[in-house]
Amino acid sequence: MKNYCADLEAILAAIDSRTRIIAFANPSNPIGTAISSKDMYNFLKKVPKETLVVIDEAYNEFNRGDDSFEDTAKWLDEFENLIVSRTFSKAYGLAGLRVGYMLANPEITSILNRLRAPFNVNIAALAAACAALDDKEFLDKTVENNTRERVRYAEFCKKNSLFMIPSFANFVAIDFKDYDASAIADRLLHMGVIVRPLLGYKLKTILRISIGTPHENDRFFKCVETILKDMKN
Ligand SMILES: Cc1ncc(COP(=O)(O)O)c(C=O)c1O
Repeated sequence: MKNYCADLEAILAAIDSRTRIIAFANPSNPIGTAISSKDMYNFLKKVPKETLVVIDEAYNEFNRGDDSFEDTAKWLDEFENLIVSRTFSKAYGLAGLRVGYMLANPEITSILNRLRAPFNVNIAALAAACAALDDKEFLDKTVENNTRERVRYAEFCKKNSLFMIPSFANFVAIDFKDYDASAIADRLLHMGVIVRPLLGYKLKTILRISIGTPHENDRFFKCVETILKDMKN
């Protein structure tokens, strides 16, 4: 990683004859940074054909309409080593149904189709996924809420001199710099607000916060302001 984002140059430099698969999420989790289509395309051009590139696009829908992000699926004919995975768990709100999909060259999909467990997605989940794909109104509403509220997080951070890592997902990562993020998370928990510290990634001062409804976000802003005030005293 470089500046909290996948370091494509370093990944290219690390490829050797034993490299079978390169896999990463774009946008990334748990930080939410993203590689633009231009940079991703140039990267794919340089990866050897024998190495599979798996791009996990779980948060892809949150950037629809942003000119920096094309539909990666358009590149499948050009890059036979490209695999794109997506999910209905995020923008479509169907996490409980456990359904997602993969886009790749027929040579790859036919192998995985033979390897996958039979009946790995149930009929109800498939019906819901098809309906979700047709429900443009719901997706637009979700993405619109997320885009608008993400800006409010950036404004909140600016106002309180906090550093928010630019996010392209439905969550934000805020760096509290001088403060222990776990202690803040603990206080938030007692106020009924659940956020995620990133100790497992050795990021002691960063919290990952899911973007909610305007009301939920207001509550988060108010609680953090109270905590910061207490900490400064
Ligand atoms: C990058 C990424 N990929 C995949 C998933 C999970 O997707 P699913 O619910 O389809 O297993 C997540 C969810 O946290 C994620 O962050």
